[in-house]
Amino acid sequence: MIHPVLLCGGSGTRLWPLSRKSYPKQFSSLVGDASLFQTSAQRLSGDGFAQPVVVTGSDFRFIVTEQLTSAEVTPAAILIEPSARNTAPAILAAALQISASNPDALMLVAPSDHVIPDAKHFRDTVQAATEAARAGQLVTFGIRPDRPETGYGWLELSTAPDAGFAPVVQPLVRFVEKPDLSTAQSMLDGGLHLWNAGIFLFEARTLIAAFEAYQPAILALVRDALAQAQADLGFTRLAPDPWAAIEDISIDYAVMEKADNLSVIPYGGVWSDLGGWEAVWREGGPDATGVVTSGAALAIDCQDTLLRSESDAVELVGIGLKDIVAVAMADAVLIAHKDRAQDVKKAVTALKAKG
Ligand code: GDD
Ligand code: MG
Repeated sequence: MIHPVLLCGGSGTRLWPLSRKSYPKQFSSLVGDASLFQTSAQRLSGDGFAQPVVVTGSDFRFIVTEQLTSAEVTPAAILIEPSARNTAPAILAAALQISASNPDALMLVAPSDHVIPDAKHFRDTVQAATEAARAGQLVTFGIRPDRPETGYGWLELSTAPDAGFAPVVQPLVRFVEKPDLSTAQSMLDGGLHLWNAGIFLFEARTLIAAFEAYQPAILALVRDALAQAQADLGFTRLAPDPWAAIEDISIDYAVMEKADNLSVIPYGGVWSDLGGWEAVWREGGPDATGVVTSGAALAIDCQDTLLRSESDAVELVGIGLKDIVAVAMADAVLIAHKDRAQDVKKAVTALKAKG
């Protein structure tokens, strides 16, 4: 039995204005009808999977329960973080919760903002990785890179993956989180690296042992936060005092860059982190001229452009545009060059500062 851990506490600022502090992207339907979170929960349910543990922020707790109910997924637990401390403490809290009743439980940690259309292919790949996880490995999922992406982690293999990209586990030489552009370019050119999908399979006790070795301070605080947690209407609220003292750090920096028991399994199916508007355009199925429209939007003589209206009251029309993303909400509009769409993060920071 594999215990899914669904992370859905991120704020997704690169998809402003659709993704807001109170309603981040994982709860929106960016591609298809169900939300990214619902699709992720369904992908990891059924044969071979236990009920998921969901880790999220207090603001999102009712969105989570409502979306799980309509997706017909019953969670084993919903852990509520008093504040966002990034993925390391969130994953560790889930591992401690699961291991309390089952220390050698296998956990599959999954972000809730990915597009993975072929659920069966993905589940088969997870099954092919269980033996390595049972042997004490922290197993990562490797995606074939096609650009020098600096927003991802990169996985260094000792031998190039075979052309067929078979799901065969191999040891990882090194894990490099979010490299600079020239490092990413040389890793792409070298052919020995894959992207980290941000999905991990391990036994709960393997992860806890890694925190013991590399992050004992975080382990002590997360243990306290769980020991003092309050049960509240089906939620498990982690205790605010120890939680507030925890370092804000992702699992990639806290553990993966340091551990020496890492493995990778290549995943050859379609995978996308809808990390920004450029990715939404790419996954939205551009037509012959590269145009993607959604909602009340009309493109005339446009090329490689995304036009998206999220409000029936706002008609969005583009004429003669090239490489533009335009997203209209009832109360905010974004217009950006497609190559600069990642900088939306800066806009959110600037708007926050403005108050
Ligand atoms: N519960 C909880 N609490 N979830 C969180 C928190 C938090 O504080 N912070 C982020 N998350 C969730 C996000 O909602 C998302 O589903 C997932 O954890 C990953 O966080 P991101 O912030 O999206 O990470 P990233 O995209 O920058 O990097 C990670 O994913 C890449 C692939 O998508 C890393 O693992 C990279 O190495 C990887 O390549
Ligand atoms: Mg992400």
